[in-house]
Amino acid sequence: MRVAMIGTGYVGLVSGACFADFGHAVICVDKDAAKVAALKRGEIPIHEPGLDELIARNAQAERLKFTTDLGGAVKDAEAVFIAVGTPSRRGDGHADLTFVHEAAREIARALSGFTVVITKSTVPVGTGDEVERIIGETRPDAEFAVVSNPEFLREGAAIRDFKHPDRIVVGTDDARAREVMTGLYRPLYLNRSPVMFTDRRTAELIKYAANAFLATKITFINEIADLAEKVGADVQEVARGIGLDNRIGSKFLHAGPGFGGSCFPKDTVALIKTAQDNAAPLRIVEAVVAANDQRKRAMARKVSSALGGELRGKTIAVLGLTFKPNTDDMREAPSIPLIAALQDMGAKVRAYDPAGIAQAKAVLTGVTFCDSAYSCAEAASALVIVTEWEQFRALDFARLKTVMAQPVLVDLRNVYRPEEIARHGFAYESVGRVKK
Ligand SMILES: NC(=O)c1ccc[n+]([C@@H]2O[C@H](COP(=O)([O-])OP(=O)(O)OC[C@H]3O[C@@H](n4cnc5c(N)ncnc54)[C@H](O)[C@@H]3O)[C@@H](O)[C@H]2O)c1
Repeated sequence: MRVAMIGTGYVGLVSGACFADFGHAVICVDKDAAKVAALKRGEIPIHEPGLDELIARNAQAERLKFTTDLGGAVKDAEAVFIAVGTPSRRGDGHADLTFVHEAAREIARALSGFTVVITKSTVPVGTGDEVERIIGETRPDAEFAVVSNPEFLREGAAIRDFKHPDRIVVGTDDARAREVMTGLYRPLYLNRSPVMFTDRRTAELIKYAANAFLATKITFINEIADLAEKVGADVQEVARGIGLDNRIGSKFLHAGPGFGGSCFPKDTVALIKTAQDNAAPLRIVEAVVAANDQRKRAMARKVSSALGGELRGKTIAVLGLTFKPNTDDMREAPSIPLIAALQDMGAKVRAYDPAGIAQAKAVLTGVTFCDSAYSCAEAASALVIVTEWEQFRALDFARLKTVMAQPVLVDLRNVYRPEEIARHGFAYESVGRVKK
């Protein structure tokens, strides 16, 4: 099938490359000319494992192309995906739909023949109706159907998630659109990935409900971690003990510095706004957002207490800046408010991240960026693990001890076991685990 993917960010680029890999002819469109020029040269603008090889292979086979010409791409397409950003609207936290509406208008002008327009961006309930209205008004003669097909991929494991999804959600009541969507995802039917057809508004709400639920799970275990510290229990064991219950499940029960990233923070707030506007407040999600906001600065207090409550003039080494491993995405990363809080307390911050330093430089100030965990640790009074990159899981503690001012490790991801770190002669703080 001929596919146009509007927006070549994390979602558009991965989805476009995967659809091409299924055998479809895909044109990825972006209005960022520099990004498109780089992609045409074979340069990948994001850090996502396996994506460079996937793009190279499909571009070589001429199934995957890049352009800034939206009209040209849409005119020949049977399916047009909207995968543009839906950030938080400044001031009130509603999803900002400017890019989606703009894309809908541009798509409308170029439509020719029956075309399915699919919203892959995360959009509030009712956005599909609005996209349909915009296209209908701009081009009363156009033959089209608007479908909701939210994306559930995770950065860092995006290709695997796209090709082996837990489920594909398709919201439409148009029979022709259903046929096109079935054709697009046919290779996944063969993998037996469940495809759930539902109505458009339900599909839109499924995406927000899924993200809000996952954010709730994380926040729940974070609060249990705080309680575990107070009562002398181990949150890792609690998470295991409850996660083995099939009704609960073990995923998203890792205590840490609070959730961040390009989705959970903005999607939880946008859902709260939709709920308030519809007089059906989501009090649990409201509490999740409030608890998560406070958590990042609380983590800075944890670092301070590991050093006797005084950070002024001390150097703190931060390992991991991106909001999770295997991405260079710094959007809403917990490291940002955490580092700001450390600086507010008078600390000098050195930092290292395996992939995120270029992005981090744009959002962090007053930080000394380093090129390895060991150079980062130089003269530091404490080493703080904020993001659990694989390469931080087997640090050489003897070497760290020789370069640090004091052997103190604050492990905000519970990567290590307390007894293991004690053997290396380090003082150790983690999340939700008491010293034995
Ligand atoms: N990042 C994720 O892990 C993830 C996962 C699931 C869903 N989502 C959702 O998918 C959507 C896209 O997220 P993202 O992280 O890929 O965003 P992104 O900001 O990385 O990329 C969006 C791209 O769209 C381009 N764009 C905007 N308007 C355009 C237009 N009119 N024509 C052509 N290009 C245009 C921008 O230049 C940008 O490159 C969001 O709604 C997000 O919530 C993201």
